[in-house]
Amino acid sequence: MAKQALITGITGQDGYHLAELLHDKGYVVYGLIRGQQNPKKQRVEQEQPYVKLIEADLTDPSSLVYALELSKPDEVYNLAAISHVGYSFKTPQLVADVTAKGALNILEAIRQSRGNKRIRFYQASTSEMFGGLDYNRPGTGYDENALFHPRSPYGVSKLYAHWITKNYRESYGMHASCGILFNHEGPRRGVEFVTRKISNAVARIQLGKQSILELGNLESKRDWGYAGDYVEGMWLMLQQDRPDDYVLATGESHSVKDLLELAFKEIGIDNWKPYVQQNPAFLRPIEVDILLGNPSKAEKKLGWKRKVDFPGLVKMMVQYDIGLESASSQID
Ligand code: NAP
Ligand code: GDD
Repeated sequence: MAKQALITGITGQDGYHLAELLHDKGYVVYGLIRGQQNPKKQRVEQEQPYVKLIEADLTDPSSLVYALELSKPDEVYNLAAISHVGYSFKTPQLVADVTAKGALNILEAIRQSRGNKRIRFYQASTSEMFGGLDYNRPGTGYDENALFHPRSPYGVSKLYAHWITKNYRESYGMHASCGILFNHEGPRRGVEFVTRKISNAVARIQLGKQSILELGNLESKRDWGYAGDYVEGMWLMLQQDRPDDYVLATGESHSVKDLLELAFKEIGIDNWKPYVQQNPAFLRPIEVDILLGNPSKAEKKLGWKRKVDFPGLVKMMVQYDIGLESASSQID
């Protein structure tokens, strides 16, 4: 019989890629959708008609019980979160409700459900939990044993979700795993994140639809991979006999400036500086300066390895946005 999976965060970047992967593997895919009029619902219905949408919200425990009853999942992937680090400073309590307590809500709904012994659970943990500080960063990059030091309400909330998942695993023997994922991007990334903001602006600049790109901190470094590769790792974690935690990363770190360099080169511009202005509105009260991950455990135990490299990722995103922007007539 086909396996059934429930994905929270179905309208997000990872929800899109994971739904596609699971569908290709023959799963019946359920997706949790929130809001009485979610504008992204139509997108899912059109592009991924095989996804069975269930109306629920991570902050409403009874709706999660209903979602589990309806989907009877073998696997639950908790991808839902308020995931923008900068925004989390503006709505810290909301972020705690959704990103931290939401994880508890779904774990508890699983624990109390009839299928609790069978359901395997994935929690979307993050490299933001490490904080990018020197004192806790091994030379080879953050691995599963590195100390946590989150630097945003988002990171702190994710750390709660991470530990409550481990706690449910240890307390109740649940098959619950955390993927500590470093930044992963692609054409499905929201334009509020720096990679897509840049790829989209570069495409618009090439087409004469935009002249200036406003950004915040250009010095920060991230370990950027491709989202399509990372959802494969999520799935692999839930196929293991024992639940565990794994870092997924590329093992390389690049600055926002490196990203600008490659993205503008893609449209034949060698000097990006005249096109970029700094706007303090995009700075955060505190920054994670550098993230570099060590994916050795996932590579060894899961046989996972990223396929797309950093230049390949930037090229993919810029080319996608050139196609998208060419087809639309909106100008600044
Ligand atoms: P994303 O594009 O921001 O998607 C977030 C999803 O959460 C959206 O589908 C959103 O639905 C949903 N959501 C927000 N509040 C909700 C609520 N109250 N109830 C139910 N759903 C709610 O994030 P992503 O990039 O796909 O990332 C997936 C997960 O991995 C997130 O938990 C993120 O924090 C984590 N993560 C991401 C990265 C990365 O680099 N992408 C790295 C590490 C960890 P709406 O459409 O209704 O807003
Ligand atoms: N978003 C954004 N917008 N970031 C900017 C900008 C800008 O205009 N200008 C500079 N940056 C810098 C940020 O300050 C940060 O240092 C870096 O670019 C990356 O920012 P984001 O793309 O917003 O991602 P993030 O690293 O803060 O968080 C993402 O990755 C985490 C994993 O490490 C999100 O996907 C999180 O949900 C995820 O957990």
